[in-house]
Amino acid sequence: MVVNPIKTERFKRVFGFLSGILPYIAHNHDRMKQNNVKESIKRKTILKLLVIGSGGREHAIAKKLLDSPEVTAVYAAPGNAGMVLDGIKTIAINIDQHAELIDFAKSNYITFTFVGPDDALAAGIVDDFETAGLSVFGPTKRAAELEWSKDFAKQIMNQYGVPTADHKTFSDFSQAAAYIESKGAPIVIKADGLALGKGVVVAETVAQALDFTRDVLENNKFGKSRVIVEEFLDGEEFSLFAFVKNDKFYMMPTAQDHKRAYDQDKGPNTGGMGAYSPVPHLPQSVVDTAVETIIKPVVNGMITEGRPYTGILYAGLILTAEGPKVIEFNARFGDPETQVILPRLTSDFAINLRDLLADKIPEFTWLNGGVTLGVVVASEGYPGDYTKGVKIPEKTTGDITTYYAGVTADATGQLVTNGGRVYLLETSANKVSDAQAILYKQLKAQDTTGLFYRNDIGDKANV
Ligand code: AMP
Ligand code: GLY
Repeated sequence: MVVNPIKTERFKRVFGFLSGILPYIAHNHDRMKQNNVKESIKRKTILKLLVIGSGGREHAIAKKLLDSPEVTAVYAAPGNAGMVLDGIKTIAINIDQHAELIDFAKSNYITFTFVGPDDALAAGIVDDFETAGLSVFGPTKRAAELEWSKDFAKQIMNQYGVPTADHKTFSDFSQAAAYIESKGAPIVIKADGLALGKGVVVAETVAQALDFTRDVLENNKFGKSRVIVEEFLDGEEFSLFAFVKNDKFYMMPTAQDHKRAYDQDKGPNTGGMGAYSPVPHLPQSVVDTAVETIIKPVVNGMITEGRPYTGILYAGLILTAEGPKVIEFNARFGDPETQVILPRLTSDFAINLRDLLADKIPEFTWLNGGVTLGVVVASEGYPGDYTKGVKIPEKTTGDITTYYAGVTADATGQLVTNGGRVYLLETSANKVSDAQAILYKQLKAQDTTGLFYRNDIGDKANV
C-alpha cells in the first residue's frame, strides 16, 4: 500500500481535532445547548493541556486550567491520585522522561505544556520541548539558572543593580571560614545549586555556620562544591510572582509562605507549611518599589544576557529598613503559594497563557477584596523521615478546596500518604481570621492521625 503523507497528516489533524472536540461536547453538555461549542469551534479555542509535576502546586495549576470553558482536557505527568478527583487526567510518565513526554504531547495534540517543578527546568525540559516544536510555558535551562545557581543569580543582581544581601562565594573551606569569622553571626550560608530547600542555613552562631560550610565543602553532604556566605537580612519575608514572556511581565498578588515546620516559626525549614495572599499589611508602595528595582531590571537583564525569560519568575524578598531586598529567585511557581494565588485569578487562565505564549496581551484579572489562605497537612516527621500509607481524610466540598500533593491510591482506591507534604486546604474570606476559622474548624473535624499541620498560618497578617 502506498501511504500518501499529505493524507496521513490530514487524517491526523482531523483525528486530533475530533479527539479534542468529543470530550468537550460530552463535558460541556449544558453549554452546548447554549450553542457556545459552535462558537468555540469557530474560534478554534479548543485546548488540551499538559502540566508537568505531581505536587499541590501542579494540582492548583491543572485545576485552574481545567476551569476554562475552552479546555477539553488537562493531563498531569505524573500527577497524583488526588488530582483525578477534580477531573485531571494523570499519565504515568515521569518528569525526567523528556522523550516520552514529547511523544505524549505530540500524539495528543497538546496545545501547550506548563512545567511546574524546578528540577525539570534545570534539566532543560523546556529546551527539549521547544526543539521538538512544541509550545511550552517555562524558562529554558539557561534562563532557569536564576534558580539553579545562586551564584549566577547573584551575578545578575550585581550586574543590574538589584538590591540583595552582601555575599561572597567560596569553594575553599579555610577561606570561607576566615570570612565567616570576620563577619560574625547571624550569618547565612547557602550551598550553590538546587538542594530541595535544605541547602540553606540561617546560622545564629559562627560555630553553626562553620559546621554547615564544612558539611558542604569538605564532607560533600549536598553534592555541591561552592557555598555563598551571605549577610543576614532582618525584616519580613514575602514573595512576588510574575508571568513573564521575554520583555513583558504581569504581576500577581503578593503572598507569604510559612517555611518552618512548627508554630511560631520553630523547627526546621520545609518546602512551606502554609500561605496566604495577598499580604494585607504590605503597602502597595513596597510592591511598586520591588517591581521597579527587582522584577523589571532582572527581566530586561536576562534579555541583555542573551537568556530571555519565559515562565513564572518568583522573587523571595525581605522587607528591610532599606526597602525590599532579594533572598532568592525561583524559576517557577511557589508551593504552597500557588494554591492561594491562583484561586484569586478571575480571568481564563488557559486563554491568558495561550495569549502570553502567542505574544498577545493577556488580560489577567484578580479578586479585589479579601484574602485566600492555605494550610498544609504533612506526614508526621516531615521534613525528616516519615512513614507512608497513612489513610487521609475525604476530599472537602463547598467553600474549602483540597489540593493534593504526596498521595497515592491503595489497592482499594483509598487515598493514602506517599510524601512529606500531603494536602492543603484552601479558602477565601473577607479577613484572615475568618479564613482561619473556616480552615481550622475543618481540620479539627478531620482525622489527621499520623499527620500534622501548623495552627498559626496567617497569624502574621492578623497583627
Ligand atoms: P532560600 O533557599 O534562599 O529561600 O532560603 C531559605 C530561607 O532562609 C528563606 O526563606 C529565608 O527565610 C532564609 N534566608 C535566606 N537568605 C536569608 C538572608 N540573607 N537573610 C535572612 N534570612 C534568609
Ligand atoms: N514555598 C517556597 C517555594 O516554593 O520555594
